[in-house]
Amino acid sequence: MAARKQIRTAVFPVAGRGTRFLPATKASPKEMLPIVDRPLIQYAVDEALAAGAERLIFITGSSKRAIEDHFDSDAELERLLESQGKTELADQVRSVLPSYATCIYIRQSAPLGLGHAVLCARPAVDDEPFFVHLADDLIVAETPCLKQMAATFEQFGSSVVGVEEVDRRDTDKYGIVEVEDARSTVSRMHGIVEKPKPEQARSTLAVVGRYVLTPTIFAELENISQGAGGEIQLTDGIARLMRSEGVYAHRFSGRRFDCGSKLGYLQATIEMSLAHPVLGKEFRHYLKSVVGRLD
Ligand code: UTP
Repeated sequence: MAARKQIRTAVFPVAGRGTRFLPATKASPKEMLPIVDRPLIQYAVDEALAAGAERLIFITGSSKRAIEDHFDSDAELERLLESQGKTELADQVRSVLPSYATCIYIRQSAPLGLGHAVLCARPAVDDEPFFVHLADDLIVAETPCLKQMAATFEQFGSSVVGVEEVDRRDTDKYGIVEVEDARSTVSRMHGIVEKPKPEQARSTLAVVGRYVLTPTIFAELENISQGAGGEIQLTDGIARLMRSEGVYAHRFSGRRFDCGSKLGYLQATIEMSLAHPVLGKEFRHYLKSVVGRLD
């Protein structure tokens, strides 16, 4: 079992091709799609920072330069905004990343699967527990989801996956887990299967894009072969980890939007627009007028 210490590293696998959003994602990463005025990857990084991460490892692929550019400082743009008296905007541009945070970019040679993407982080992670965050799962929560899960890791010292109940007809979109106590917020897992058909799924408890993993996952991932869809599946690595060290499933509190799907992305945009401190009020009026026109 890994020593319990502060988790300081977060891994963001961003090397997928985002085919569900083509052609928008042909030349620009899915993670740069904005929800109101911030790209998905900014929400992801903010959540990891709020959970204590300070080393941010991005597993990138082709057409992902925009992510590096987003987190780079841009002195020229800041100077321009200052000279135009737009200090608030300049501050917003500056605050995309706090000065204590370090970004590391590792290229995944080909999109061979999420498990392979996580394995690519190995040289930069050291022998420590780390977060994995999938930016297309946007979770709005009072206590950031990774922070909730870090507390569970503190308590048990074993890997933790974020889970939520899904509709039975959707089990073939998720890793589906079985736990010892289905009513408990946190429970030890005893089964995990990638994308089972609804009629074969042994539960409707689905893994979402949040993980706290011990470094043992790397050894497990090295030893698995291609799984569902011909990809190296993180789920298969977690199944092995479950047997060797134990893994806990944590039903996070908060609301998840699947921004990798068009419908989820639109829902997130509407909810975040309604909650926006500046736009919210006006947008609410507009939305009411739209609803009034619907039959
Ligand atoms: P998805 O299953 O959402 O795949 O990957 P995708 O390619 O991003 O999107 P679609 O399905 O084609 O529309 C889940 C997460 O795993 C990352 C993706 O970037 C996404 O965050 N991923 C997936 C990798 O980093 N590398 C891979 O080889 C596969």
